[in-house]
Amino acid sequence: MLDQKLYILMISVHGLIRGDDMELGRDADTGGQITYVVELARALGRHGDVAQVDLLTRQIEDSHVSPDYAERIEELGLHARIVRLPCGPRKYLRKELLWPHLDQIVDRCLHYLRQQGRLPDLIHTHYADAGYVGHHLSNLLGIPQIHTGHSLGRPKRERLLASGRKEQTIERQFNLSQRIAAEEDTLIHASLVVTSTWQEIEDQYGMYENTDPRRCRVIPPGTDTSRFSPPGRKPIVPSVQTSIDRFLNEPGKPMILAICRPDTRKNLHGLVQAYGGDKSLQAMANLVIVAGSREDIRDMEDSQRKVMSDMLFDIDRYDLWGKVAIPKHFTGEDVPELYRLATRRRGVFVNPALTEPFGLTLIEAAASGLPIVAPEDGGPRDIIANCRNGLLVNTLNHSDIAAALKEAFVDKKRWRDWSKNGVLNVRRHYTWDAHVAKYLKEVDKLLHKERKRLRRQHAATLHYGQAPMPLAQKVVICDIDNTLLGDEQGLAELLQWLRAHAKTISFGVATGRTVDSAIKVLKKWRVPMPDLLITSVGSEINYWPSLRPDKGWINHIRHQWRRDTLAEVLKEVPGLTLQAAENQREFKLSYLAAPEDMPPLEQLYQYLHQQNLHAKLIYSHEAFLDVLPVRASKGQAVRYLAYKWGLSLKSFLVAGDSGNDEEMLVGDTLGVVVGNHSPELEPLRGLEQIYFASKPYAYGILEGLAHYGFIQADSHGDPHASR
Ligand code: GLC
Ligand code: MG
Repeated sequence: MLDQKLYILMISVHGLIRGDDMELGRDADTGGQITYVVELARALGRHGDVAQVDLLTRQIEDSHVSPDYAERIEELGLHARIVRLPCGPRKYLRKELLWPHLDQIVDRCLHYLRQQGRLPDLIHTHYADAGYVGHHLSNLLGIPQIHTGHSLGRPKRERLLASGRKEQTIERQFNLSQRIAAEEDTLIHASLVVTSTWQEIEDQYGMYENTDPRRCRVIPPGTDTSRFSPPGRKPIVPSVQTSIDRFLNEPGKPMILAICRPDTRKNLHGLVQAYGGDKSLQAMANLVIVAGSREDIRDMEDSQRKVMSDMLFDIDRYDLWGKVAIPKHFTGEDVPELYRLATRRRGVFVNPALTEPFGLTLIEAAASGLPIVAPEDGGPRDIIANCRNGLLVNTLNHSDIAAALKEAFVDKKRWRDWSKNGVLNVRRHYTWDAHVAKYLKEVDKLLHKERKRLRRQHAATLHYGQAPMPLAQKVVICDIDNTLLGDEQGLAELLQWLRAHAKTISFGVATGRTVDSAIKVLKKWRVPMPDLLITSVGSEINYWPSLRPDKGWINHIRHQWRRDTLAEVLKEVPGLTLQAAENQREFKLSYLAAPEDMPPLEQLYQYLHQQNLHAKLIYSHEAFLDVLPVRASKGQAVRYLAYKWGLSLKSFLVAGDSGNDEEMLVGDTLGVVVGNHSPELEPLRGLEQIYFASKPYAYGILEGLAHYGFIQADSHGDPHASR
C-alpha cells in the first residue's frame, strides 16, 4: 500500500527557509514564497495519500545568518522535511547570483535520492531557479515536473523599464535574461503550472512564448488557520502589545496595520502620504507599519534603506510622532498576534502596493477577522470576491487610500460583517487543506496520463525494470556490435543474468551507433531496452524510457568543438572518406579510413593543432575514424555518469571489443575485453583491471562478470531498490 502513496520532491532554492520563526522580510528573497513552500510541504505531508515530502533548498553556512540554515535535515512534522544541499559557496547569496551554481544542486540531488532508495513520483519547483534545477532532474529521471513561478522575470523587466531604468543596469543587477530563458524552458517542459490567480495566467504567463494555458491551473495558496485566527477571549501577548504601544499617544484607538517588506513597489511611501495628508483619518486611527526587522537602517541594502529613511522623513514632515508605530524587531511568531491586536482594536489591514499578484497577508488578515483595503489588482480582486471583507482602491491615489480607510472605520455594523466574512470565507477558500485537495486531484490526473503515455510509447518494447540509475548499486555497460551481439546463445544467458539481478544492477550500452540505430538493432535481437544509452561513440547520453538526452553532458563536451571548421580542414587529409550522412552527428564526424591510406594519428593530431583545432580522434576496427569533441568518448561518458549518479568507477563493469571502447576499459572501471576483440586492443593486455576473456561475445561478458565476482554484487544490494 505504502508504495502507492506519493513521494513528492519540492525544490525552492533561494532565501532563508526554516520551519519555525521564519525571518520573513529580512531580505528580498525571504518573503511570501518561503511561507508558501513550507506550508504546502506540511499540508501535503499531512494528507493520507502522501508518503513523504522533501523540500530541497540550499544549505547555508554563514556567520551572518542563523546556524539553522546549515542543518542538513529539518523535520517539518508528519512526513515532511526540509533537506538542505550545498550549492556553490557556503555563504548566503542573493538569488540573482545563484545561477552558476545550480547544476551542482542537480548532481547533489541525484546523490541524495540514491540514499533514499526511492525515486519521487513528482518534482514540484518554485521560482525560476528551482525550475531550472527541476527541469534537468525531470529530464534525467523521467519524472513529471510541476512548476509554480511565484514571480516572473518578464513582467519584472517591463515594470523596471517603465519606471525609467536602463536595460543594461537592470540586467546587471537582476540577471533577467538568464532568468527569463530558464522560465521559458521550464514552461515548455513542465506538465503543470500552478498559479494563485487567473490574472497571473493571463497577464503574466501571457507574456511568455511557451505558456500553454491548458497546462495552467489556478489553485490559490492557503493560510494556516491554526495560527491566524480571531482574537477570542485570550489577552494579547504583552510583549507584542508593548512593542507597538510604546510609539503611540493613544494606543487604544483603532489601528491601520500594514505588513510588508521595505520595497518601493509595496508603496509604503504612498500610505504614509495618505495618512499624513488627512487629519480626520489621523483622528480616527493610528498607523502601524511592520516592515521586516532591522538593527541599523544604515546597514540595510540600498533600496531598503531608501524606503525606510524616506518613511522617517515623511513621518517627521507631517509630524506624525505619537500616531505612527514602526517597530524594530518583529518575528514571524509575533505576526498572528499582531493581527489579533489590530482586530481587537477594530482596525483595518491595508496593502498599499502598486500591484499585487496575490497578497498572502490579506488572507492572513482576513483569517484573523481584520477587514482589508487592497489594490485593485489580480490577487486582491479574487480575494475580495471570495471573502467580501473590505475594499479595493487605486493605490496610486493617496486620497483614495485615505477615503477607503475612513469608510471602513465609520460604519460599525459593516466593520463587523467584514470581520466575520473574512474568517468564514478564508476557511472555505484559502486553507492549505483545500489547496492540497485540489492539487492532489490534478496530480492524480497527471500521473495517470503520464503512465498511459509511456505504456503507449513503448508498448512493443521489452524492458524488465532494471534498477534506475539513481538507485542502482552497480552498472553493466556493454558495447553493442561484436560484444553484446554476435552470439545468440551467449546473449540469452547474459540477459537471463541481467534479469535475475535487475533490482540492483542497471544496464547500459555504449556504441558507435546513433540512438535510433542502436534501438533498432537491440529490438531486432530482442534485447530489453537498457536504462542507459551512450551513443555516437560517447558523444550522446540518453536515458530510457524518455530517451531525452543528458543536457549536462552536451554542455560539458561542447568545449572547443568547432565542427564546421574541422570538417573543412579534414577534407584535405588523404585517405579519409566521410561516412554516410546518418552517421554524422552534432558532436561526431565520422570517416572511413584504411590504415595504409591514412596518415598516422599523431600526425593528424599535429595537423589539427597547427590550425588551432581541438578534437579527439578515435580509430577502430582498422576501418573507422571518429572525430569527437576533446571531452567526449565512451570512457569520458562513463566517468561523467559515475560522478553524476554518485557511483564509484569500480561499480561499473564495461565490456568491449574495439578501439572506440578503449577509454572506458582502462582506468578504475572493471574492464572486460571479449575473446573476439580486434587487434587494436592487444596493447591493453596485462593492464590492471582489464580482463581478457577467452570466450567471444556475450559469453566473454559473462566470463568477465564471474572474474570480477560481480555476481555477488546484489547480495549487498538494497532490497527496497526496486521500482
Ligand atoms: C559505428 C558508427 C560509425 C563509427 C563506428 C566506430 O559503426 O556507425 O559511425 O565510426 O561505429 O566508432
Ligand atoms: Mg564493437
